Amino acid sequence: MQTAKKILLPYTESGTEMAAILRQPQRGVLVLILLILVHISACAESLQVLHWWRSASEQKAVAVLSNRMAQENILWRDGLVPSGSGIGANIVLKSRVLAGNAPEVAQLNGVLISEWADLGLLLEMDSVAVAGKWEKLLLPSVWSLVQSHGHLVAAPLGVHRTNTLFFNKKIFSKYDLSAPNTWDEFEQIAKKLQQAGIVPLAQSTEPWQLATLFETILLSESSLAFYQEAFVRKEPAAFYDQRFARALKRLRTLKKYMVLSAQERTWMEMARQMADGNAAMMIMGDWVKGELNAMGLVTDIGFGCTAVPETGNYHLYNVDTLVMLAKDNSLRATQEKFAQMLISPALQAEYNQVKGSVSVLRNPDLSKMDSCSRASWKLFSRGSSVQVPSLVHRMATDEISKDAIIAEIHRFFMDDQMTIGETQRRLGAIARYLSKTKAGNDAQDINR
Ligand code: BGC
Repeated sequence: MQTAKKILLPYTESGTEMAAILRQPQRGVLVLILLILVHISACAESLQVLHWWRSASEQKAVAVLSNRMAQENILWRDGLVPSGSGIGANIVLKSRVLAGNAPEVAQLNGVLISEWADLGLLLEMDSVAVAGKWEKLLLPSVWSLVQSHGHLVAAPLGVHRTNTLFFNKKIFSKYDLSAPNTWDEFEQIAKKLQQAGIVPLAQSTEPWQLATLFETILLSESSLAFYQEAFVRKEPAAFYDQRFARALKRLRTLKKYMVLSAQERTWMEMARQMADGNAAMMIMGDWVKGELNAMGLVTDIGFGCTAVPETGNYHLYNVDTLVMLAKDNSLRATQEKFAQMLISPALQAEYNQVKGSVSVLRNPDLSKMDSCSRASWKLFSRGSSVQVPSLVHRMATDEISKDAIIAEIHRFFMDDQMTIGETQRRLGAIARYLSKTKAGNDAQDINR
């Protein structure tokens, strides 16, 4: 009897007391509201979302998504694993899946999508794709990226451009400089700035940030075809090529224009350095644009953006995507509802505006974009002849190959005694080995 009462009325000592409370008009109303709230939250479905977005702009983007979910009565349970470019988040995701404790949703980008789909870990959402006409709505390369063996297995959020050069407008106008189109122009500007006591280029020594710079340099010294030979197909000969040697040399030259700190700085700290005028330029993916905007700097007023010298015809891209983990099917409907929400024009516009990326849709409202985003979207939408998959941000090859290449680029940059030839030999050997392994053969990219 005692037990039954407790189960029925957990908020009071006894049913009689509850009845008494409900008879007092004010307290009764309060308790009823409480009961309704408890009921609502018990009904709301929740999805845990594992991601790595922790900067101010990334958190704003998360808020756009979670608020939209809340409108549909879906609760966003935050699974933040802070890690620039997602290195830590991917490790945590893997170990959670192995431990049988997978989140319902995860940020999983590029080549990893089809690797995970092949293992049967991702929910196939073909009915969503058909009902929502995804094939018609999405840019063709994005549509092909989110499918594996003809099944929809990921929902796209936005397209980032990594070959972006940001510059501090105040500094540039004070010294009467205009954005560099070539490396020669870049060097002239950098020398002038150095004479004036200004650090030309904000750069961290964090391996993924260095390699993000290097992939843009390699592109500037070669072409889409050569970049793919090296980073997508990992042909050993590409690493011994003169063009690869030139890119390494350029990386070493640029070191002269940076002031490196002993500690590895986050990309947010580097963006802040440029925003505060402690450095004049920064080369990084356009998530930096979102961050500069979040700091209160307006595009084209506080800072400008342009393509990295000699890469203006290319869009070195990465696409942020969320996958739904296939679990026991009980949350399938909620997961599918969430996926469908992500490609609505309103959400795409709002999310990408704060994130710094651009819409994955074929017909976004260009008038709502700033000049940086408009240029990025227009170029990307031209298709595969201009789209170059980012190595560092997982669009070109598998994790093992990517990490091995990044480690060598980092070693070369940090150790001035390491020769260009030696780095080429080391990378060539890695490529020879990797192309014989499963990792080397699994690589996929949307334009091959
Ligand atoms: C992701 C971005 C993220 C950036 C910095 C990139 O790999 O695509 O969404 O803002 O890493 O963490």
